[in-house]
Amino acid sequence: MSRDDQLSRLGEFLAIPSISTLPDHRDDCRHAAAWLMDQFRSLGCPVVDLLEGEGHPVVWAESPRVSNRPTVLCYGHYDVQPVDPLTEWISPPFEPTVRDGNLYARGAVDDKGQVFALLEAYRAVLDTGGMPPLNVHFIIEGEEECGGRVIFDRLRAEPERTAVDAVLVADMGYYAPGIPAVYTGLRGLCYAEIHVRTLRRDLHSGSYGGVAPNALEALARLLTDLKRRSGRINIPKLYKAVEPPSKTELKAWNSLPFDEARFLDEEVTGRALTGLKKHSVLERIWALPTFEIHGIRGGFTGEGAKTVIPAHAMAKVSLRLVPDQGFEKVGKWLTRAVEKLAPAYADVEVKLLHGGDPVRCDVSHPAFSVLDEAFEAVVGRGTVPVRAGGSIPVVPELQRGGAPVLLTGIGLPDDGLHSPNEKVSLQQLWDGIEIFSKFFQGFAEKGAAKSE
Ligand code: BES
Ligand code: MN
Ligand code: MN
Repeated sequence: MSRDDQLSRLGEFLAIPSISTLPDHRDDCRHAAAWLMDQFRSLGCPVVDLLEGEGHPVVWAESPRVSNRPTVLCYGHYDVQPVDPLTEWISPPFEPTVRDGNLYARGAVDDKGQVFALLEAYRAVLDTGGMPPLNVHFIIEGEEECGGRVIFDRLRAEPERTAVDAVLVADMGYYAPGIPAVYTGLRGLCYAEIHVRTLRRDLHSGSYGGVAPNALEALARLLTDLKRRSGRINIPKLYKAVEPPSKTELKAWNSLPFDEARFLDEEVTGRALTGLKKHSVLERIWALPTFEIHGIRGGFTGEGAKTVIPAHAMAKVSLRLVPDQGFEKVGKWLTRAVEKLAPAYADVEVKLLHGGDPVRCDVSHPAFSVLDEAFEAVVGRGTVPVRAGGSIPVVPELQRGGAPVLLTGIGLPDDGLHSPNEKVSLQQLWDGIEIFSKFFQGFAEKGAAKSE
């Protein structure tokens, strides 16, 4: 299979606008799932199933069975994030385009490009008879970005799916160019809408301004009360539930190259970093909870001027969570804090949309050495143990089978996941295919040695 062929097939996958959170794209999600099923069939997988539930389906595939060999379960997701602001894309998000050695498209790195690398890696280890050196199962979901439950419910009901020798999660990236990573932790997430109503209807701001409670103002105060200027989140008990990074982790983090000025300018693209100053930047993005405002609705936002006192306002917010902050518990704490901080004249409601629990991951299992050797062979160095600020809600469920979960990936820090002009570096993609196939090969041999 030539690289041109590979690129054009990945291009087909990326051209499908499988935005899981937007109801209008439901059929596109199905289309992406169907596209994957075709790929697995053409790779010779005897089991290719669509696992249905209330939401977008999960694609499940199994390689031909080879006895006395270990089984690796590969996880990824075929759904993508919305594309707005659309005008900022240099080439349209669903018209994959190569520029300067990068492939640009929504999902290029998160996560279709990485799912594709897993598929091609699997293809690369098949013998001439189409048999793999080990058992490879694939579970590719379509609701990672929107907080769906289909994959959870299925894994709860069918725990044998995670009763494997290792789980490979390819949905993250290198610590820095040339420095691959494995993740010892992921943050969790608690996503909510805060609704505020202060009046039964909108009012004229001349007739009533000065006395009528403004819902947007009440919401703005509430939001700024929830997080102080220092960056401290004003939710009782939240910081008590923070398990600080271990000595080993801190030591590893301190030895990582980190250029704060470059990080601020090139990645963050702002003029200053915010947050709790007494913690290092890496601690703030990996090991501390956050409170972010994602969007605010209310009042008049059209062209021109309208003098109105809004009756209702809403904010979308989320907290990132660290071990041991379960998202359901934190959702209750957030609700209680909002109710306490809101003025008596406002009706407030917290609607919890979705969440995921934080993850801790022990990276001492021998499978991690196999992964290290694979990276070593292709990029000349093994992985550094880091944590991720992002979340993958299904990971705790993948861990329940007791197999080591290898959280890794081929992204680069400047890939722009969830941003306009998301890309994957083609070199990373080709390397990734080689790395994952070396992992399959290495794990097959280790597993074989074990059972002899
Ligand atoms: N691949 C990311 C998770 C990620 C991001 C891991 C950065 C490591 C570093 C994943 O697709 C993602 O974006 N997850 C969402 C989950 C949420 C919508 C429940 C996230 O983290 O916002
Ligand atoms: Mn992802
Ligand atoms: Mn994502």
